[in-house]
Parts: sequence; structure tokens; C-alpha cells
Amino acid sequence: MEHFEEDLVEALKEIVRDGNWQCVGEQSAFQSPCTKLFSEDGEHLVLVHTEDDRFWAMDSACPHEGGPLELGDIEDLGNGRMALICPWHQFDFCLDTGASSTGLQNQVYDVKVVQGMVYVNTQNELCLNPFPEAKTAHVDKLYIEDGDKQTHENSLCYWATKILCTPDPEEKVTLTLEVQRKWNSGEISDVGEATPPAQPGRKENLTVLEPGKIKRGKGGTLASRVALLHSLANIEQWAIDLSWDVIARFSKTRLSTGTALPRQFFSDFVKVAGDEAKHYHLLEKRITELGSCFGALPVHNGLWQSASDTAHDLLARLAIVHMVHEARGLDVHPQTLSRFAAQGDTKSVEALEVIYADEITHVAAGLRWFTYICGEEARDCVPTFHKLVKLHFKGYLKPPFNTEGRKTAGMTEETDIYFLKWQT
Ligand code: FES
Ligand SMILES: [Fe+2]
Ligand SMILES: [Fe+2]
Repeated sequence: MEHFEEDLVEALKEIVRDGNWQCVGEQSAFQSPCTKLFSEDGEHLVLVHTEDDRFWAMDSACPHEGGPLELGDIEDLGNGRMALICPWHQFDFCLDTGASSTGLQNQVYDVKVVQGMVYVNTQNELCLNPFPEAKTAHVDKLYIEDGDKQTHENSLCYWATKILCTPDPEEKVTLTLEVQRKWNSGEISDVGEATPPAQPGRKENLTVLEPGKIKRGKGGTLASRVALLHSLANIEQWAIDLSWDVIARFSKTRLSTGTALPRQFFSDFVKVAGDEAKHYHLLEKRITELGSCFGALPVHNGLWQSASDTAHDLLARLAIVHMVHEARGLDVHPQTLSRFAAQGDTKSVEALEVIYADEITHVAAGLRWFTYICGEEARDCVPTFHKLVKLHFKGYLKPPFNTEGRKTAGMTEETDIYFLKWQT
């Protein structure tokens, strides 16, 4: 089993290394010189199309005072170098490097055109339109019927549902760690069955915005570091709920062979829930040390959308939430870490390092149970994963896709598992 897990971690590393190319649409759709690309994390991009038919991408908010670079002009700097000029104070930003003659620096991204489709190398999802408005997080009715004999008070599912319905994040953490301890010691031994709420509880005073409207910051100032930690703490709070939801929602699931899920499945996700609770607590503590508190900034609930979309299908849930999204979380970690390190914020770096080590095991858990179920149900893992990601992942355009094209874009057959969303 140990060796098996090592293989999964290797597969995960492949995902992290190569999994950043976002398809944004057909080349012919980008006629204007500048097109704004909306990013799920609020760090929007501008895609620049120069007259010689080359494409470039950089952050759309000017690093000077946030001017809209997508409304800027393109200027030839000579020697084949082109710049985007900010419309507010006319600072120039080299399309190649993002450097400005003023000394400022903008973030640039690699762009490739493959088979007439434009790809941008970034960890965030991109969209030509603003992301849809997130529904306000609210507490749905606790859905445990009195007469539901199977949801008895000392079962794992009873507690999973109770934690999902708990709005206070600190209480959620305390309960999670307590239930983890009781499960590990055998004090709670029955998995039980439950129907969890459609949406987990959140505190009334938490401001929830659509994902694209959250300004996450880049860690260059104290306020920006707090914003980054706050956004990560929000993700951890959802991650606690996602772990309990997969336990409760699929407690009644039977494989096509008629068998129930092994006890180890539940133990693995109890461990993930405990890790996520620890992560939230670490981040919340750090935010407080830096003079703020969780809830001081708006959050988004974009992650729960994937949970709702896959509420009916365990394989889809594992593929989208516990493999794709968890792996995308890993993508962001090293970059985030370096931002805190650059500011000498060693305490935050220590917290993020603990989190990163745990998150690798979470993707491994997703992969492990996905491959287990496929094996039991005699399904071919890779095509099944392809199909589910294509069906449920809110990715973008699905261009024609072939091996040659993928190779040109830097995608190898080993990274297939991540790029299936593009396969027709
Ligand atoms: S905001 Fe862009 S140059 Fe001032
Ligand atoms: Fe986490
Ligand atoms: Fe996780």
C-alpha cells in the first residue's frame, strides 16, 4: 500500500508541474489588441494581440495605482520590443518581461497558440466574462429527521452533518478535532447514514462576494499578506466542510458490486477533515497575530459549487473536488510561500509549509479512492476521469485536442489526467 501511495504522490507531482495551461478561446476571437481575461481569484489578466499576430498576457491592474491596462495602448519600444501603456499615467510595461522604464514590474504570463486555440500559463481559471455571482452562504435547514433511525447520535455521519451545519469556524474546528479523536479511539465506531445539508453553515456577518471580486493581494504589504492568509483560511473552512460532506453524503453509497465503501474510506476523510481544521486554525491564529481576524474581509464560496455539481456521484466528487481542486491548491502553495518568505514573514511560511505537506496527502487520498472504486467496478480509470472532468469541471472552452497539439503546448501523455477537460 505504501508503494501504491508513493506512485500517487509521483502522479500528483506531474499534475503540479504541468497543470497550468488554461485555454481561453479561439485565436480568431481575439481581434482587438487588448482583451480582459477574468480570473477566479480576482487577479485579472489582459491578453494582448499585436499586429504581427503574437499574443502576450500580463496582470490587468497596473502595478502603479491599479489603472486598467486592458484599456491601454500598445507601443513599439524598438528592437522588436513592445510595451503596453497604462491609460492613467502612461507608464510603459514591456510585453516580454512586464518591466517598466519607471522601475515598476508587472506580472507576465506565457501564452501559446496551439491548433488555433490560445492557452495562457497560469494557475487560475480564466474566463472572458466576470465569474457568476456567488450565492450567499447561508445555513440550510439541518436535515436530520427525528425519525431517521440510521442517523443516531453516536455515528460518524451524525457528527459530520452537525459539523456541516455549524456556522462558527472555531466551533467547526473544535468539533472536527474532537470527532477525529473519538473516531481514532473507537469512541465513535459506527459510520451510520445521513443526508447532509445542501450548503454548510456560515456566520451571518461573513460577507460573501462572487469569486472574481475578491482582491487577494500579492503579499507585498502587511495588508496584502493578511488578505492572502484570509483567503486561504476561507478555503480551509470550505475544505473542512468538503471532507465531512463526502463522508455523510456518500455514506449510503453502494458500489456496482453491491458492497459498501470500506471503513478505511471514512477514516481517510476523517484524517483529511482533521488536517483542514488544523490548517484553518493555523491561518486564523496567524491572521490574528498580524492584527486582523477571520471575517474582517469578504470571502467567496466558489468551491462549494463543485460540491453541489457532484453531489449525486462519488466518482465525480473525488475527481473534481479531491483531485482537481486539491491539486490546484497545491499549485498555488510554492508561489504563495515565496511571497511571504520575500517579506521575511517566517511564521506564516512555517504555517504554509505544514499545510503544503498535508495537502499532498489529500490529493493522494482522492486518487487512491478514485482508483479503488474504478478497480472494484471494472472501470478504466483514465477514460472515466476524462469523462467526469469534462462533464463536471467548470473549465472553459473545449477545443479540438490531439496528441501533437498537447505536446506543442507542453502537455505530455503523463499529464493527461489533468488536461482531459479539453479533450473532445
Ligand atoms: S495607474 Fe498605471 S500608470 Fe498610474
Ligand atoms: Fe488544507
Ligand atoms: Fe486539503
